[in-house]
Amino acid sequence: MTDIYAGAAEFYDLVAGPLWARKGPVLAAALRTARTDLGPIVDIGAGTGCSTEVIADALPGAAIVAVEPSPCMRIALSARVALRGLADRVTIAAATAGEFTLPQRIGGAVVYGVLGHIEPPQRTRLLADLAERLPPGAPVVVELMDETAPPSRAPLRIARTPVGDHIYEVWSRGSGSGSATMWTLTYRVLHDHRVIREAEVPMPWAEYGLSDLRDEAERSNMRCLRIAPDTAVLTHRN
Ligand SMILES: C[S@@+](CC[C@H](N)C(=O)[O-])C[C@H]1O[C@@H](n2cnc3c(N)ncnc32)[C@H](O)[C@@H]1O
Repeated sequence: MTDIYAGAAEFYDLVAGPLWARKGPVLAAALRTARTDLGPIVDIGAGTGCSTEVIADALPGAAIVAVEPSPCMRIALSARVALRGLADRVTIAAATAGEFTLPQRIGGAVVYGVLGHIEPPQRTRLLADLAERLPPGAPVVVELMDETAPPSRAPLRIARTPVGDHIYEVWSRGSGSGSATMWTLTYRVLHDHRVIREAEVPMPWAEYGLSDLRDEAERSNMRCLRIAPDTAVLTHRN
């Protein structure tokens, strides 16, 4: 398997901090109706564990399953689980959403920044499988990244943060269209205004917005409520 996040993993947490200061409280609030008494919270595409950590803090004692296919991202995820003392309740599954078999019952789910990576048939299957296992009132919280970090045609700087004597920048740009869209992240390390290192990370990313999510949720008998520009909560209709 090719690890499409191999080139990004080193930079991911260093630049994610300011973004998660905004995203964390939104996710924590959306999880209030989770039914941790009925099953674990499944974090699909858990990455380095930024989302996993918010779930753990928002729902003390909850069992969490962090599903993450990238070996490089999983190194950071495992380190976070160890350093935060979460190994007693976080299970790490080395799998894609398509490969992973969901538990029979879940207390809720978090699907952050990943639906665009998943092939359409698997995406539809994932939402249907989550709906089937979700108790009434419990949330599937979805972040689409279609507005805050879109694969725009022109390069867009999406993060800039000091790291010691250096500045780390992340630039985002898109190419292609529909299911053939590529999203390229460029990580730049600057010293004294000079680029001393650059890493290009191209990834397949389907254009998939809120109206697509709403339609797909509808087909799985879930309602879709937007709670932030690129974030929505899915719950059962009945
Ligand atoms: C943009 S990152 C989001 C990470 C984390 N959820 C967050 O919000 O910080 C997307 C993650 O999805 C993972 N991913 C890519 N394809 C996937 C798939 N088919 N199933 C599950 N996860 C996938 C990537 O390896 C990456 O870690």
